[in-house]
Amino acid sequence: MTTQTYPFQLPSLPYAPDALEPHFDARTISIHHDEHHRVYVERLNAALKDHPELHDKTIEYLLRNLNRIPSGIRTAVRNDGGGHLNHALFWSLIGVPGKGTPTGALLEALLDNFGSLDAFHAKFREVATGHFASGWVFLVADSRKNALEVLAMPDHHCVLGTHQTVLLVCDVWEHAYYLKHQQKRADYVDCWWQVANWHEAARRFDRPVEAAA
Ligand SMILES: [Fe+2]
Repeated sequence: MTTQTYPFQLPSLPYAPDALEPHFDARTISIHHDEHHRVYVERLNAALKDHPELHDKTIEYLLRNLNRIPSGIRTAVRNDGGGHLNHALFWSLIGVPGKGTPTGALLEALLDNFGSLDAFHAKFREVATGHFASGWVFLVADSRKNALEVLAMPDHHCVLGTHQTVLLVCDVWEHAYYLKHQQKRADYVDCWWQVANWHEAARRFDRPVEAAA
């Protein structure tokens, strides 16, 4: 993401919309990606259109430097830019069922930080179901703390610390699950668990600088 600048592009899904069935249904994936994410990208580009001084800035730069963004477009950059960045991460960190379970160094880190995989799963589920209203839940490797953390963010706030690498992310906005699960967010989080892309999480954990780039 860090090399991408204005005009930002809607990334293609790295799988067919029905590839995550039965856990994620094709209609929800299509609407989520083709409509919700697309609109965030379009609104972000519209906000930046008349600000050429920002056209060479990455989305991470824009979000890390909101105080330098003109006040008239700051909210749009925070909301629509954050929506773009988080959704781009989300699509890349889920995948066809069977992307394995954590192994190697990532498994060891999970066990060190949470005690067991079941305990990690329970912690993630607790945070995701307990988060009020819309937002995002992340598994983050923090190099300063030398630890893994489960973090919840409101709205489209992002994990932006240069010492933080997102390993997994779950979108807990209702648009991610309402068609299939209605208000039952816990059922959706359980389905998300089945499509979590542990291969990509391990790659990002093993090479955090590249993954953060
Ligand atoms: Fe979403």
